[in-house]
Amino acid sequence: MKDLDYHVPQQRTISTQGMGPVSSELDARRQNAVARALSPGLPGYVVAADGGVLVDADGNSFIDFASGIAVTSVGASNQRVAAAVAEAAAQFTHTCFMISPYESYIAVCEKLAELTPGDHAKKSALFNSGAEAVENAVKVARSYTGKNAVAVFDRAYHGRTNLTLAMTAKNKPYKTLFGPFASDVYRVPSSYPLHDGLTGPEAAERTIKVLEQEIGAENLACVVIEPIQGEGGFVVPAEGYLPALVEWCRKNNVVFVADEVQAGFCRSGEWFSVDHEGVVPDVVATAKGIAGGMPLSAVTGRADIMDAPIPGALGGTYGGNPVACAAALAAIEEMETHDLAGRAREMETIIRRHLEPLLELDVVREVRGHGAMIAVELVDGEITGAVAAACKAAGVLILTCGLDGNVIRLLPALTIPENLLVEGLEIMAEAINTQAKERA
Ligand SMILES: Cc1ncc(COP(=O)(O)O)c(C=O)c1O
Repeated sequence: MKDLDYHVPQQRTISTQGMGPVSSELDARRQNAVARALSPGLPGYVVAADGGVLVDADGNSFIDFASGIAVTSVGASNQRVAAAVAEAAAQFTHTCFMISPYESYIAVCEKLAELTPGDHAKKSALFNSGAEAVENAVKVARSYTGKNAVAVFDRAYHGRTNLTLAMTAKNKPYKTLFGPFASDVYRVPSSYPLHDGLTGPEAAERTIKVLEQEIGAENLACVVIEPIQGEGGFVVPAEGYLPALVEWCRKNNVVFVADEVQAGFCRSGEWFSVDHEGVVPDVVATAKGIAGGMPLSAVTGRADIMDAPIPGALGGTYGGNPVACAAALAAIEEMETHDLAGRAREMETIIRRHLEPLLELDVVREVRGHGAMIAVELVDGEITGAVAAACKAAGVLILTCGLDGNVIRLLPALTIPENLLVEGLEIMAEAINTQAKERA
């Protein structure tokens, strides 16, 4: 795998045990001033980041397998993105597209029409966060179909606003004591081959039965699905599941919405994770990797669906901010120039080479995923937490996921140099081996 250009040294160096003195002082200020609901899981306060590393205020340099939860795919201080941001900000930071429009917003929508699956006419609307994109996808689907109900899936994660919390599955920590939630949201079974043992068509039949018996196609505006589940455990549905679901949606005037917020923009080794099965959604929600860390999200869909809401019905003060749009155009250019989807596929080969031998251990259930979105499912949350803690102490930042907290998910930048990727994987494999021995 070819290394790219980096301006922060790409090395792991841990010189303090836990937080160093500068980070500790910052942490004391955080505890005093920041609501306790926001409690960072990582050991240090960041002062620099690029490629595969995060550097903290005490000079520790961590291998970063989190990318700010799948956001900094092109690197956290990508020079093309940084230059585009500086140039756009120097021209104007904001006008509000709904009041005084500008070109970069249109250019992002044109790019989304080009890159998202399908060669039909498409239109987009831009927002700030993934949750906002998902909410607006639902608004568009309701407006188009004249129906209300929304179907979501077991283990789904769609965000933290009121509607998207209704759509999100996991209670703690996301939903607890925050209700009542939006109505007309129904959870249906999905496909989880490791646990349900069903083929794609069998799992789709089970899902469709629930859609028909418990909701009714005549009430259903849209099905919203993460084609590869993120927070829910990096679950990849069995082959044939998504195509069968799309077919049912098409026959029943139900809008098929792909939530590509986490899996989109080259993360899975394709531009979008639905591309693995050639699925063409009616509407795609994107965010995270789209803009190199600047807040931007989008809803892109069939032009007739996107044009259903009346003029003025979609928008928001900041959605499609010009600085964020400039960042998105630069980030997408980086993905194209360096074929980051191809690089993600190369990363998958390296990751699998290091992690699949762990399947021999009793504590490891599965290694799954696509591209640079690979997970290891372990037998329980306790051992997963211990592995994550051991990695952190050794200077490798990894995230866990899954309803039981028993899945380690890897989300390195798509620009990470090979030697750091390998070093991080070796540390992680050693941590899993150590925990397995302690269990034996
Ligand atoms: C699949 C998916 N949808 C929606 C969201 C919500 O995005 P945001 O946190 O930007 O609101 C996330 C965030 O992790 C996500 O993974």
